[in-house]
Amino acid sequence: MRNLKKTNIMVNLEFEYGNALSFVTKEEIKKYQKEIDKHFTNLNNKTGKGNDFLGWMDLPDGTSEDLITDIEVVAESLREKSEVTVVVGIGGSYLGARAIIDALNHHFHHIKGGKNPMVVYAGQNISEDYLTDLLDVLNDKDYSIIVISKSGTTTEPAVAFRLLKIHIENKYGKVEARKRIVAITDVERGALKELANQEGYKTFVVPDDVGGRYSVLTPVGLLPIAVAGFSIRKFIEGAKNMKSHLAQSTNIDENPVATYAAVRNALYNSGKTTEIMVNYEPRLYYITEWWKQLYGESEGKENKGIFPAGVGFTTDLHSMGQYIQEGLRNIFETVLSVEKPNSELLVPNDSANLDSLNYIAGMPIHEVNHHAQTGTTLAHIDGGVPNLKISIPKINEYNLGELVYFYELACAVSGYILDVNPFDQPGVEAYKKNMFALLGKPGFEKETEAIRKRL
Ligand code: PA5
Repeated sequence: MRNLKKTNIMVNLEFEYGNALSFVTKEEIKKYQKEIDKHFTNLNNKTGKGNDFLGWMDLPDGTSEDLITDIEVVAESLREKSEVTVVVGIGGSYLGARAIIDALNHHFHHIKGGKNPMVVYAGQNISEDYLTDLLDVLNDKDYSIIVISKSGTTTEPAVAFRLLKIHIENKYGKVEARKRIVAITDVERGALKELANQEGYKTFVVPDDVGGRYSVLTPVGLLPIAVAGFSIRKFIEGAKNMKSHLAQSTNIDENPVATYAAVRNALYNSGKTTEIMVNYEPRLYYITEWWKQLYGESEGKENKGIFPAGVGFTTDLHSMGQYIQEGLRNIFETVLSVEKPNSELLVPNDSANLDSLNYIAGMPIHEVNHHAQTGTTLAHIDGGVPNLKISIPKINEYNLGELVYFYELACAVSGYILDVNPFDQPGVEAYKKNMFALLGKPGFEKETEAIRKRL
C-alpha cells in the first residue's frame, strides 16, 4: 500500500506507514503539518537552529562539474596504482563511503578480487591488533591512502595515519608515497591541512557548512566511492532527483520526508522511543550504521531523541527476534525494503526432499526472503510493534542517492520537530576530554588530576 499522493517529479523510493495506523491515528500524524511547513521554511531560508551547517542541502544540485571530474580523475589514478585503498577516517568521515561501497560491492569482493581496488578502513577504532593486521596485509599489496578528517585533529585517524604514512613511505619512498596519498580536510585549518600542504598531497575540501554525518555527497564520500568503481554521477543524480521531488510540496500526504518525520515523531510521543532500522539484505548493514550515526548524533541531545537501533533480518530474527516480538513495547520498526535483487537464483528441487523444501522448489530466493519480510512484519504488528516501510526498487547508485538525501532531509525536519539542533554534536566531546586527560595530553593537567581521584 502506497500512502502518498503523486507529484510531478517522481522518485523510485516509496514510504508507507499503513502498518503504524493501529498505533497512531492519521489525525495525530497530520497535526504535525503546520510545524513541518515551518521547519521546511526554516531549512530553505536558513533561519532555523544550526543554520550555518546547511551546506549539505546544496550538494545534490550544487556540486560542480569541475569537482566531479577532479574526483573521477584522482580516483582513476589511485585505481591504477592500487590493489587496496585505505580510507582513514571515523564517524561521518568514513561511514557514508562505507555504507555506499558495501551496498554496491560484490559480497565477497575481498576473495573474488577484480579490477576494482578493495577499499579497507582505518582510523575508525584504536585497536592495536586491527592496525597490526592491516599493516601486515599492506606489506604484500600495492596500495593508496585517502585520509579524511574535517577538523584534522581527530585522535583515531591521526594515530592510524601516523602508522600508515611511515609504512607507505618505507614501501615506496617519499616521492611515490606522496602520489598515493590524498587528504580530504578543511579548506585552511587543522593539522591534516598543514601536513598536506607541507608534503604536497592532493587535497579535497570538506565544506565549512557541511557536518561530518551529512558529508557523503562531498569528496568525503564521493572519492572512496569512485575509487571502488562506482558511478558518483548516478549517485548524485539520485540525490538531485530526490531533492527536486521533495521541493514540490511540504504536505504530509505528498512529501515522504514530511511523512516519515511526522510519523516517527507521532510514534515517539506515544511512547515508542526506539526506532529499529531493519534490512533483509546483508549488504545494507553499513547503510544502517550510517543512518544510526545520522539520527543518533542529530537527535540525541537535551535528554530527548528517538534511539536509533538496527537489525539485519532474517539473520537477527534468530537472535533479536524474540525481544522485538515480546520485549519492552517501546519500539517501532522501519524496514528498508529492496523490491528486486540484482541477480537470479532459484531454490533447487531435490529428489530425496529430506528437508521437505520441495514445496518451494523453483521459487526465487528473493521471494522466500520477501515472504519472510511480510510474515515478520505481520507478527511484529501483532506483537505491538508499529511498522514503517521505505522501499527502493533495487540497490544501485541512483537509488542510494535518492535514499541518502531522503534520510538527511528527514533527519533535519525530525530534529526540528524535537526542537533540537540537528547539526551539532556537543555530547561527543565528553569522552575525548577524559581520554586526553588519561593520556596526559599537555593542557589537560587539571582534568588528569580530577580523573585520577575518581579511579
Ligand atoms: O558527524 C560528525 O561530525 C562526526 O562523526 C565526525 O565526522 C567525526 O567525529 C570525525 O571528525 P573529523 O572529520 O573532524 O575527524
